[in-house]
Amino acid sequence: MSCEIDPRLCPIGVFDSGVGGLSVLGEAVRQLPHEDFIYFGDTYNAPYGTKAPEQVRELAFGIVESFCARRVKAVVIACNTATAEAAKELRAHYSFPIIGMEPALKPASELEGPGLRLVLATPGTLSSEKYASLYARFGQNAVSLPCPGLMDFVESGDRGSPALRDYLEHLLQPYLHENVTAVVLGCTHYPFIRPLIASFFPESTRILDGNAGTVRQLRRVLRQKDLLKTEGTGTVTLETSGNDQTLTLMKAMFEEAKEMIS
Ligand code: DGL
Repeated sequence: MSCEIDPRLCPIGVFDSGVGGLSVLGEAVRQLPHEDFIYFGDTYNAPYGTKAPEQVRELAFGIVESFCARRVKAVVIACNTATAEAAKELRAHYSFPIIGMEPALKPASELEGPGLRLVLATPGTLSSEKYASLYARFGQNAVSLPCPGLMDFVESGDRGSPALRDYLEHLLQPYLHENVTAVVLGCTHYPFIRPLIASFFPESTRILDGNAGTVRQLRRVLRQKDLLKTEGTGTVTLETSGNDQTLTLMKAMFEEAKEMIS
């Protein structure tokens, strides 16, 4: 179903397994201030990154179908895992543009410097076919580090508890005496703990995420299809399959995300 009035005035649906996609939404409202966004965080079903691909696909279809009923003009899958496991199928099924994400391995490979590129992402993203093909093209010097459970810290509002520090210490320890050119935040939850992750490395190590690139792609596609809303103040509606407490946390994290620079 598409918007029958003026499609440019229809909202954009954005979703993630939880609060992570708010880091993308923060960038989206900066780059596209006139647009109306509906954000859905599927907290009840989180995490996606350790679920079977079919299960993630089914959840993603359910969310996009409900966006469709609300006449969105485009959808952003603000989740690397759901993109890896469902974007192709969603695009084959729906006629509106569906923008996905992938770990920023290509930009990392283009950086100067002979050092390692560490890719932090969910087990689901890193074991997907989509990632395998990305890695085959841009994975020179790249080490893929699955991070099961890391999103849970972010979901709970943690930015640096001893348990979170221990998790990262354990994960990153083998690389702390190596030359690391870049760390790729391949899950939309991780930009919320970017300062903590960065604190393990020298200042010269670049910490990359795919948020700005994803929103640039959204803007390109909307412009191409004459779907850009170019005036009026945009609105943001935050929704969750979680409880009231989740919604309160989401609101606070959205404010935080608007200030984050990727
Ligand atoms: N934020 C998600 C991603 O970008 C997934 C986290 C999860 O649900 O495991 O991959």
